[in-house]
Amino acid sequence: MRFDVFTLFPEVFPAYLETSILKRAQENKLLEVRLHDIRDWASDKHRTTDDTPYGGGGGMVMKPEPIFRAVDEILGIPPGCPLILLTPQGETFTQQKASAYSKLPQLAMICGRYEGFDERIRQHLATQEVSIGDYVLSGGELPALVVIEAVTRLIPGALGDPGGASDDSFSSGLLEYPQYTRPPVFQGWDVPEVLQAGDHGAIERWRRNQALLRTLQKRPDLLLGVELSKADLDFLAQAVQGSEIALPDPIIKLIQNRKERS
Ligand SMILES: C[S@@+](CC[C@H](N)C(=O)[O-])C[C@H]1O[C@@H](n2cnc3c(N)ncnc32)[C@H](O)[C@@H]1O
Repeated sequence: MRFDVFTLFPEVFPAYLETSILKRAQENKLLEVRLHDIRDWASDKHRTTDDTPYGGGGGMVMKPEPIFRAVDEILGIPPGCPLILLTPQGETFTQQKASAYSKLPQLAMICGRYEGFDERIRQHLATQEVSIGDYVLSGGELPALVVIEAVTRLIPGALGDPGGASDDSFSSGLLEYPQYTRPPVFQGWDVPEVLQAGDHGAIERWRRNQALLRTLQKRPDLLLGVELSKADLDFLAQAVQGSEIALPDPIIKLIQNRKERS
């Protein structure tokens, strides 16, 4: 998969891109990242890419001409692949979005700086707007790396272990179950018996139940987007009995409907 990143600070990318999974993915030709310095498309000798806002106010705004020229030369206009404007005003980046992007051959991103972009870039150039969360950073470079890394993990072959990402939080809609490694006892705290006994069916059920429990405790909203089996509903009904944890109303209804039917 190829990423094209338009940025005023291409120099911040290499250290991260040349490390671990992203480095290996590039070596294995699964990932290619092309960095484009927007200043290369400025037209004056000072390589100006920003200007003061119409209407006054503090800060600077990224000018449209260098960005339009850069995109035209690299991708064409309209762009030959999805072109994401990174902005706190965009749709929130999620694992589902990462999964959809990982199936594309090419994706491009524009990193903002200062007060952000001239509105015409958003209206007439970008094909979508993405935010990495409800907070404001000084630039789009970290968001671009976040997108590249989350997407690359989902490209088949990019992780050493082929099943590595499938149990990750959000992949199945649930948070991931607790993980343990050696030693079996650390400072008096045991690894659960079931994980040491080697019964794969029992381990799978335990993991599913723990993922359900974790999600219920930390992110009950996520349970509403997950297909829950009879065994899942039985487990959740039992887990909340006598505890302070409340199930979301739609899940209570599912459990009640199931009881009425049986
Ligand atoms: C200081 S921010 C500009 C924020 C803008 N004035 C606003 O209120 O929407 C500068 C740039 O950082 C990037 N940025 C900041 N926070 C971001 C976020 N949560 N997600 C994606 N990009 C972000 C964007 O590219 C943005 O243009």
